Amino acid sequence: MAQSKTRTFGILTSGGDCPGLNAAIRGVARAATNEYGMNVIGISNGYRGLIDGDAKLLKSNDFSGILTQGGTILGASREKPFKFSMKDSEAGRNKVDEIKENYRKLGLDCLVVLGGNGTQRTAHLLQEEGLNVIGLPKTIDNDIWGTDITFGYYSAMSIATQAIDRLHTTALSHNRVMIVEIMGHKAGWLALSSGLAGGADVICIPEIPYDPRSITSYLMNRASAGKEFSIIAVAEGAMTKDEAKLTKEERKKKLKKNRHLSRGMILAQEIEETIDMECRVTVLGYQQRGGAPSPMDRVLSTRFGIEGAKLLAEGQYGRMVCMKGDTVSSIPLSEVAGKLKTVPPDHNLVESARMVQTCFGDT
Ligand code: F6P
Repeated sequence: MAQSKTRTFGILTSGGDCPGLNAAIRGVARAATNEYGMNVIGISNGYRGLIDGDAKLLKSNDFSGILTQGGTILGASREKPFKFSMKDSEAGRNKVDEIKENYRKLGLDCLVVLGGNGTQRTAHLLQEEGLNVIGLPKTIDNDIWGTDITFGYYSAMSIATQAIDRLHTTALSHNRVMIVEIMGHKAGWLALSSGLAGGADVICIPEIPYDPRSITSYLMNRASAGKEFSIIAVAEGAMTKDEAKLTKEERKKKLKKNRHLSRGMILAQEIEETIDMECRVTVLGYQQRGGAPSPMDRVLSTRFGIEGAKLLAEGQYGRMVCMKGDTVSSIPLSEVAGKLKTVPPDHNLVESARMVQTCFGDT
């Protein structure tokens, strides 16, 4: 009787790194190898490794002891194989064909990709090219459409909240306006949730454009009430009401003039130009993506990884693992691709923040 071939899947981490990637790799790899008897091939540096054929068979030791480690044992890149590049075309390269060729050479039955929006979009396009792909939603921005939560988000929220807590003491001691800039170009989930958790007085997010005058009058009112310090949590992609009226291109052009100024610094200038208050800016940057995953992320990544392994075992390809309420399930990649989950301005988190007198600079 013919023996059935051991199934093999490749796994890669693409886009920015974040806490929880290793926990998810461990989850999917352990369940797939131990429960379902599959082989796992680790692909280096995101889609770039698949283009270059940079991959190796992983052994159980490779995914032992990594649950608590930040970063990714596989390495990551922001490689976008479907993006047209003159350089590639002049060199006669077609990265998608190279991926398909390596997928075949590695004997893969499926590819598991851990990543954000761009990664899931590429996953869908590869699925359409005839590969079998399963996605796991990762990003500190929590902006992937179709899932309530992404892994990496809780860890980053905890880092940003701790930073706000620490800034509070200096704000109080020096009577200063402390501005903390939090990651999130298009979606403000992280600034909103950590701002709420850290008791920020003002929160600025891309989805709710602000008027600098509304913020300065709020700060003045606080000062008249005896609170001469304030904390402002601002998402890196926040914008003024005037900027929101511009097209994306016009906005880019305008910001290019100040390209060494981040949003936190721009806001500090806007405030200091109008009122006599001392502002200090802290840009949290990559701190938010670093270090060990929080307990919530370790559990979430493990659950997502296991669901990924189940999809592999059932041959349910072309899907992204997701969370709905407290239930882990999956949705077709075709439903996720090309969409973004931004903060609805009337979301309960926004309403809750308003109820505790947080200013969004929009009134
Ligand atoms: O996608 C997560 C994210 O952290 C964004 O919030 C941020 O704007 C971006 O990555 C920056 O990443 P990099 O500089 O690594 O491209």
